[in-house]
Amino acid sequence: MAKLFEPTQVGDIAVKNRIVMAPLTRNRSPGAIPNDLNVEYYRQRATAGLIITEGTAITQQGQGYADVPGLYKPEALEGWKRVTSAVHEAGGKIVVQLWHVGRVSHTSLQPNDGQPVSSTSKVARTKTYLINADGTGAFAETSEPRALGTAEIAGIVEDFRRAARDAIDAGFDGVEIHGANGYLIDQFLRSGINDRTDQYGGSLENRARFLFEVVDAVSKEVGEGRTAIRISPVTPSNDSSDIDPQTIFTYVVEGLAKYNLAYIHVVEGQTGGDRNFQQGDKPFDYKALRLAYEKAGGKSKWLVNNGYDRETAIDVVESGRADLVSFGKPFIANPDLVERLKLGAELNTPDQPTFYGGGAKGYTDYPALEKVA
Ligand SMILES: Cc1cc2nc3c(=O)[nH]c(=O)nc-3n(C[C@H](O)[C@H](O)[C@H](O)COP(=O)(O)O)c2cc1C
Repeated sequence: MAKLFEPTQVGDIAVKNRIVMAPLTRNRSPGAIPNDLNVEYYRQRATAGLIITEGTAITQQGQGYADVPGLYKPEALEGWKRVTSAVHEAGGKIVVQLWHVGRVSHTSLQPNDGQPVSSTSKVARTKTYLINADGTGAFAETSEPRALGTAEIAGIVEDFRRAARDAIDAGFDGVEIHGANGYLIDQFLRSGINDRTDQYGGSLENRARFLFEVVDAVSKEVGEGRTAIRISPVTPSNDSSDIDPQTIFTYVVEGLAKYNLAYIHVVEGQTGGDRNFQQGDKPFDYKALRLAYEKAGGKSKWLVNNGYDRETAIDVVESGRADLVSFGKPFIANPDLVERLKLGAELNTPDQPTFYGGGAKGYTDYPALEKVA
């Protein structure tokens, strides 16, 4: 059997195969509280070696889209306990994606209708998803952010730490820090966004300072083997850009190598799009990125994502270029994706849009494998 289907150890987490469910925002948690729908949805996907939850807001300030779940209310933690129990009972493992969206938000989602915060006061040329009082969904321009004062940043690091603690107490096997896709951590990393002149802007060290403060606080709180991070070196998602992504992300992975994290999750190319997408003057070299990580002593599992199918996933793990592969869209309409990949069976096609907000209407009972194979 291909290695993709074999068990392995991911930090402190033993997984039964190397197929990971990628984080997928579904906008199905009104009040930021996970409910029956979320419990059922994750339980159904417990055959994945590891589930990464949808992005989950660490605070209300970290919310960027309607009905995204959070980790900042007691009722939400109760809801998550039901999710983690259901997944564990079904034999699965689950980590939560810790999310602060930064400027990719709207005043209507923020505490007291305030401005979203970021590394910058420049507006993100992107859209967010809101649900109106009558229940209809709509995309909306993001609001103008407020650049964080230097002294405020420690408070957000503390929010990440507290959310990680609460997540472990709610039964999660670990946490994935969302450092990708143009959200807050990425808003500090990328040269095209970060225009600060304090110790969080300018040099590589300064732009990566916030990321490392978060990794440090979270891993000290819950253990390095239960901490992971997601990065997306070249994605233009949410108006993000960098003139030299290879240099900043090499610096990042060399720093991450000092921690024995569970895994490093790398989105290759444009998230949900072109795998060969380029920023800067040369194609991004993912092999060199991993080599730099290993040369710096990094030993965490290497998890790759973006547009993988059965053949490319088997190949990337077999060849040793990655330890695990995460699948996003294929998991939406195929709760039993692992079984389908094992058999080489056909995949269901989603009958609802697979973009942010596309899942808001609720759960669709996709045909189970025995009915279609
Ligand atoms: C509906 C939808 C929601 C997503 N939500 C998140 C999210 O909450 N956090 C995140 O890091 N990526 C998110 N992504 C990106 C996916 O995790 C993944 O990177 C992308 O879909 C590419 O993988 P795939 O080709 O296997 O689908 C989302 C993608 C889709 C389609």
